[in-house]
Amino acid sequence: MLKKLKYNDEFIKSIAEQYPTPFYLYDEETLRENARLFNKAFEWNKGYKEYFAVKANPNPEILKILTNEGLGCDCSSLAELLICERLGIVGENIMFTSNDTPTAEYIKAKQLNAIINLDDITDLQTLENCAGLPDIICFRWNPGPLYNVSSVIGNPVEAKYGLTTKQLFDAFTLAKSKGIKQFGLHTMIASNLLDENFFVTTAKTIFDLVIKIKQQTNVNISFVNLGGGFGVAYKPEQSPLNLIKIGKEINAEYEKLNNAGTLPPIKIFTESGRLVAAESGILITKVIHRKDTYKKYIGVDASMANLMRPGMYGAYHHITVVKNSIPKNLSTEIVDVVGSLCENCDKFAVDRELPALEINDLIAIHDAGAHGYAMGFQYNGKLRCAELLLEKSGKIRIIRRAETFNDYIATLNINNW
Ligand SMILES: Cc1ncc(COP(=O)(O)O)c(C=O)c1O
Repeated sequence: MLKKLKYNDEFIKSIAEQYPTPFYLYDEETLRENARLFNKAFEWNKGYKEYFAVKANPNPEILKILTNEGLGCDCSSLAELLICERLGIVGENIMFTSNDTPTAEYIKAKQLNAIINLDDITDLQTLENCAGLPDIICFRWNPGPLYNVSSVIGNPVEAKYGLTTKQLFDAFTLAKSKGIKQFGLHTMIASNLLDENFFVTTAKTIFDLVIKIKQQTNVNISFVNLGGGFGVAYKPEQSPLNLIKIGKEINAEYEKLNNAGTLPPIKIFTESGRLVAAESGILITKVIHRKDTYKKYIGVDASMANLMRPGMYGAYHHITVVKNSIPKNLSTEIVDVVGSLCENCDKFAVDRELPALEINDLIAIHDAGAHGYAMGFQYNGKLRCAELLLEKSGKIRIIRRAETFNDYIATLNINNW
């Protein structure tokens, strides 16, 4: 399958003439379409909400677009909560899921009336001590040996997140005894999975658990959060997830239990970041160097500091060469596309077949809108680049400027330079 850019080469070149490379370019239309897809897939469920994982892309302009489509925000840190507060996103439009949580974060989450999702049974007491208990509480379940998924999150038994099944029952009993009025159950087992059955099986497992919790603790769960982890077809040969089909099959499992009278009506939540935003963003970077040693290298002006996933996880990001009317007979070559960081893993692609590239050619790195800019860093004095938004109107807007040297040194406390 061919993986094509949404824009033609002329268009990208004209943007690169106005804004220095590298830069991220996000597409409002794609963001809105993806948000609507989640809402459509689960429209059968009264109260359904997709809480966009803010960590995937915390740019306020992106959050404004998504919340305008009815999405909530999944926050996991104080900074993410503060961004939401500034945007007027509060109350049950925020789900706060963190672990090893500093008390300042609980205090802010409680102050914003966010739905708080606890990662450990001891967190209930910590929350009560630092912020007081809210009316709603959710617990994150770690299924342990029940699941054996190899992913970025890791095998559940090895993963630091969530409560064991036994602890979960004790936690709901304890929370009820403390006067909590509404309860939720959360799990997030996998990351970037393209197996549709996995999401249906997970939903069914969670529904069964809701029934068991009622039987053993007499606690009524009013919502379940199935987490994120919905995969993106980063590689051309991969098939995208059919979210509508997943929603339909989850609906069928839900109806079976609901009609049998075992599962009461519950709200379903998801907290995807990647499937909502990845496809909407590309990283545009320019070829600045060619090197021919034991391998052929194409050096670009972005680095792993701008997009860490390939270097950190060996993740594949498709690359399109932005070159007007690439001649049909233009030869290709096998190259590593590299950044300038002093780390040998600073490679956007390894042994990739690309049309022959020359200095000043532009390349577009696909599916970079989630866990892209957000994972950026400054190691080696590399600065974060700008983020641009292509609005539905066709207007390009700069939604975050590139960092400067002054930003880099802004936190230093030093005299007599
Ligand atoms: C708790 C939690 N929820 C949601 C997400 C979003 O995952 P994804 O963007 O893969 O859907 C993450 C990712 O790290 C997470 O840790």
